[in-house]
Amino acid sequence: MEHKVLVVGGGGRCHAIVDALSRSRKVGKIYCAPGNAGIAAQAECVPLKETQTEKLRDFALENGVDLTVVGPEVALAAGIADVFAAAGLRIFGPSKAAATIESSKDFAKRLMEKYDVPTAAFRTFEDYDAALGYVRSGTFPAVLKYDGLAAGKGVVIAEDLPQAESALKDMLLDDKFGKGRVVVEEFLTGPEFSFMCFVDGEKVWPMTVSQDHKRAYEGDKGPNTGGMGAYSPVPLITEKDIEYSLEKIMKPVAAGMVAEGCPFKGVLYGGLMKTPSGVKVIEFNCRFGDPETEVVLPRLESDIYDVFSAIADGTPMPELKWSAKATLGFVLASKGYPGQYGKGYPVCGLDEAAASGNVRIYHMGTSMKDGCYFTSGGRVLMVVGTGDDLRAARECALEAVGKIRCENLFYRKDIGWRAGAL
Ligand code: AMP
Ligand code: GLY
Repeated sequence: MEHKVLVVGGGGRCHAIVDALSRSRKVGKIYCAPGNAGIAAQAECVPLKETQTEKLRDFALENGVDLTVVGPEVALAAGIADVFAAAGLRIFGPSKAAATIESSKDFAKRLMEKYDVPTAAFRTFEDYDAALGYVRSGTFPAVLKYDGLAAGKGVVIAEDLPQAESALKDMLLDDKFGKGRVVVEEFLTGPEFSFMCFVDGEKVWPMTVSQDHKRAYEGDKGPNTGGMGAYSPVPLITEKDIEYSLEKIMKPVAAGMVAEGCPFKGVLYGGLMKTPSGVKVIEFNCRFGDPETEVVLPRLESDIYDVFSAIADGTPMPELKWSAKATLGFVLASKGYPGQYGKGYPVCGLDEAAASGNVRIYHMGTSMKDGCYFTSGGRVLMVVGTGDDLRAARECALEAVGKIRCENLFYRKDIGWRAGAL
């Protein structure tokens, strides 16, 4: 039986999900809402926004969609899983209540505290003066996190008091991200890695680990972004680290969510740091990471439709098999990103770039006009190479990047530097 699947979202992560589904023998038709110009080559794009949950439900009902897979957190925080479940539709993604693990930093921190999960010490504030007083009495850098969804821009690492003052003013006095609270955290050090797990209630199945590069410029300098590149596996993270992260972090959190009355179903993403005193949690997300998904899913050899179905239906999970090959990807972003940037620049050479079988090109923000691709977002493309090791994967990706012509794109050449891939 060939199934119809709807993927909700429109960035590189959704392109990678669509690409993985298109390799499934069980999937006949893929819709993607809203999708993008690159996704349109592999799926039928539907002009509905991620947050139009009721319209998406109606679309799924009218078109006989067997399974819906949700990419972005905004759709989950808008309650898409609840709306679909109420209509008897199968969906892969957590309920609105379970998605709080990402949408509220304070919820996540209190959960970790209660279930003894290793993370940075913290306090939560509503009041500007109280927050500032606490920061003033502590050490720098100070970590300040807005307690809500802020598109990756709600975290400030303040090096000194004036920086902290200005960030707290934005978050608590001027309500830059909306009315909310601020979590002030202990500053941790060490390499970060992304540990995504498929979760159904207390059951947890780990994916292979990956590492994102959050800063905009080479040498991990410049402002934080949604992610400028990623690779998998991560040699710095040992089997022991992974075992510890699974047993002491992911499983207790999954069990904690059940105990709190909001069981999690979907991808639980642990943003973890290997500190000198062990692996600790930096953040949780309630969905696939972006750009991590673009390097992790190409390594999945099991049929992803079966994986999604097992969680949506609570049926047995197939064995997760991972390719021994490594993947490494560069994000090509619009000049100026993550600040202001222009759109509508032509992008050429994608066919030549994709011609090698060891490269995948995922579209993050493109549009199409008269058969030509144009830039339409901050992050535009992710070029992922595959090889016997990270160095080989990087070479493949780099060669492909060299064939892409666009005057308004930049990328970080040093993706994988911590793993010695350069
Ligand atoms: P988050 O959105 O919580 O993942 O934070 C964004 C980035 O800020 C993380 O990827 C880290 O690089 C950094 N960060 C967050 N929390 C801490 C912390 N407690 N100590 C050091 N760096 C942090
Ligand atoms: N790459 C970080 C995230 O998906 O939030």
